[in-house]
Amino acid sequence: MEEFVTLTYNGSEIKLPVVIGTEGEKAIDITNLRSETGFITLDPGYANTGSCTSAITFMDGEKGILRYRGIPVEQLAENATFKETAYLLIHGRLPNRDELTQFSIMLNDNSLVHTDMKAFYQNFPRASHPMGILSSMVNAMRSFYPILENESEKEEITLTMTRLLAKVRTMAAMSYKISRGHELVLPRPDLTYCENFLNMMFETPVKPYEINRAAVNALRVFWILHADHEQNCSTSAVRVVGSARVNLYAAISSGISALWGPLHGGANQAVIEMLTEIQEDGGNFNKYIEKAKDKKDPFRMMGFGHRVYKTYDPRAKIMKKMCDELLESMNIKDPLLDIAKELEEVATKDPYFVDHNLYPNIDFYSGIVLRAIGIPTNMFTVMFAIGRLPGWIAQWKESMDDPKWKICRPRQVYTGNTAFDFVPIHARR
Ligand code: ACO
Repeated sequence: MEEFVTLTYNGSEIKLPVVIGTEGEKAIDITNLRSETGFITLDPGYANTGSCTSAITFMDGEKGILRYRGIPVEQLAENATFKETAYLLIHGRLPNRDELTQFSIMLNDNSLVHTDMKAFYQNFPRASHPMGILSSMVNAMRSFYPILENESEKEEITLTMTRLLAKVRTMAAMSYKISRGHELVLPRPDLTYCENFLNMMFETPVKPYEINRAAVNALRVFWILHADHEQNCSTSAVRVVGSARVNLYAAISSGISALWGPLHGGANQAVIEMLTEIQEDGGNFNKYIEKAKDKKDPFRMMGFGHRVYKTYDPRAKIMKKMCDELLESMNIKDPLLDIAKELEEVATKDPYFVDHNLYPNIDFYSGIVLRAIGIPTNMFTVMFAIGRLPGWIAQWKESMDDPKWKICRPRQVYTGNTAFDFVPIHARR
């Protein structure tokens, strides 16, 4: 039975349909609100606005649940490869053996990067942030890989999605090598997605990279945990930009730019910088807890808080456990991990943090994992971007396949000057 809510204003009524999701989430469908009443809704930051219906990712911020296409992220982290997870998100189900083989072949065939792109990389100023470089280079891919005349639209889309997944990993490793002034290491067909990335990053002619199982596993889990998170800031950027029917490279490039911000993906870098500052400051994390609580101080506890999770981020739980296991198996003692754990212990009992539902998010422990693998701090958010790519692609594809998906064009409530006449320059004060 269809449900409605009734809106009453100045004696007139409008019935608005209620949309109910498969997990019981309820939304008021306001599609006809403006045409029937002249009203729009106002929701800065879109905290109460559902921008779409989606069958990709379910999260319950109160219970700390995250599922991709119905499968709990904990099970994927335990059992799946990153490649399978990417396929699951994009195609809606896990691949069978043949489909996975086919997908692997396509990823391998598309993993090289056009050699002319190297010149672009080399001309970025040395101090450029890798996220700025990645965003520009992904946009530039459209010029290097234009639409193929003889492909059907479906084949073209599949190829573009695969190209992005295959090349972004090579491009990220490439930027690291160029930043160090080292020769590039090419992808190898005998290595898995995660192994290949580590090999391209760390293999040198004078020191062959030995595949470290613990590092490969940590990277697999890290990327799976980042693979999608429904309508977050960067995903919404991809959907909004894509809604103008721009090419996929440009839409993904805008997602990378949004992810760069310290309130979003950039937090993993910001956490390590914050923990390092605390360590250099004598390890006095209590001072930073007080700073985070002080409303006159703009400082925020990086890696704490989330727009949707009002309990412990389920990804942070897995990340914390993996952090312990990784450091132990690699025999690494990281003082930042000790500071992080002690800080969490105290902060999560502090009334300010409790009242504001501030718990560690995924970024709180992920930087320590990346450090242990050997990833430089300024590449942390790039690692997040590689992980989030399947989610962005899946969300873009879902929006393109949605017959109701229109160009995104929010409204506003204007609060500026009302009309007044142009003043000639000699008469202006
Ligand atoms: N430290 C201190 N106080 C905080 C923090 C924090 N990390 N996060 C939120 N608060 C407080 C705010 O000051 C505000 O307090 P008030 O109501 O007393 O004024 C209240 O909690 C609500 O904060 P908002 O900014 O309105 O919450 P919002 O949902 O907009 O922000 C966000 C969520 C951006 C993640 C925020 O918690 C934050 O800045 N965290 C730190 C950065 C971070 O870790 N980002 C990663 C997010 S996860 C991800 O993108 C992968």
